[in-house]
Amino acid sequence: MKKKYIVTGGSGFIGSAIVKKLLREGHSVRVFDNNSRGNLRRLQSVIDEIEFVEGDIRDPHQVEEACKDIDAVCHLAFVNGTKFFYELPELVLEVGVKGMINILDACITHNIDDLILASSSEVYQSPDEVPTSESVPLIVPDLLNPRYSYGGGKIISELLAINYGRSKIKRVVIFRPHNVYGPDMGWEHVVPEFVLKMDDLISASRSQPIDFKIQGTGNETRAFIFIDDFVDGLFRVIEQGQHLNVYHIGTSNEIKLYELAHQIASLFDVKIDIVPGDLAQGGTLRRCPDITKLRGLGFDPQTTMEEGLKVTKQWYVENKHLKSITTA
Ligand SMILES: NC(=O)c1ccc[n+]([C@@H]2O[C@H](COP(=O)([O-])OP(=O)(O)OC[C@H]3O[C@@H](n4cnc5c(N)ncnc54)[C@H](O)[C@@H]3O)[C@@H](O)[C@H]2O)c1
Repeated sequence: MKKKYIVTGGSGFIGSAIVKKLLREGHSVRVFDNNSRGNLRRLQSVIDEIEFVEGDIRDPHQVEEACKDIDAVCHLAFVNGTKFFYELPELVLEVGVKGMINILDACITHNIDDLILASSSEVYQSPDEVPTSESVPLIVPDLLNPRYSYGGGKIISELLAINYGRSKIKRVVIFRPHNVYGPDMGWEHVVPEFVLKMDDLISASRSQPIDFKIQGTGNETRAFIFIDDFVDGLFRVIEQGQHLNVYHIGTSNEIKLYELAHQIASLFDVKIDIVPGDLAQGGTLRRCPDITKLRGLGFDPQTTMEEGLKVTKQWYVENKHLKSITTA
């Protein structure tokens, strides 16, 4: 059945990609974003096919108005980017919590019976079990560390969605992305940071190997998923996800961050020496999702890290000038 979706955070990295997928599948889409980190350039190719509403998710009236005549909500608006968790924890929580309540109220007011919510792998912080399944407990390890504004905000959002949605909304489905990467993914994430730093160092240095400073020892791990595979996973969750269920979206290809740095260096055709640094307080040492549940929906990621990094690196090298003129 063709539906009318609202995608909050729809001019963001993941939002814009799912907007395009929904359009390709024949649905209509209204995008709601304040463009604080989103950017309409990401939606340029479909700009005539969408309705764009510029608005703030913290404003109940704007959210209620934007949710009129909508069949399904994909709620992605949130302040993302690790740097902001430390620097703007109150904003992270305000956008997360008020945004969630406003979306739930709007769903109930307009009898919208389908809500898909973006959560995060950060709800586990440093899980004992890796690969981590959806049933591992969610924690805020230190109330005083501003970093956990983000994970805490996601835990609150999940609780609100589940408990309001249990009886008042026909279907509430939660997905937890794990380290999505790709072109135009924003600037405050490990892949673009490594690419841009490497690009800078190469122009400044005459000999190799080049000293490459990182946060932590480089033995910290992540499992990255390329945006095209991510969109395939998310669309499966949107189509087949069950009421009050949570789904990881990611891959099981866990790699150490020093290996990531070396892979990016080889795309530049240079040799590097890793120089370890301090890990940000509260940084996660190991992260890799168990994706059995998503595989059960037919998910099978296709993009190798080498392929995904190649196009991502190319985008950042070609578009580095955008960094100074964008807030995203
Ligand atoms: N990218 C990842 O690897 C990853 C991992 C875990 C969770 N997530 C979650 O997935 C969702 C999308 O992430 P993303 O990577 O596309 O991030 P993003 O920053 O590109 O997108 C978030 C969007 O929310 C918008 N937004 C922020 N504050 C707003 C406000 N007050 N009102 C309206 N819109 C507002 C931003 O402008 C932005 O377009 C987020 O909820 C994020 O927390 C992403």
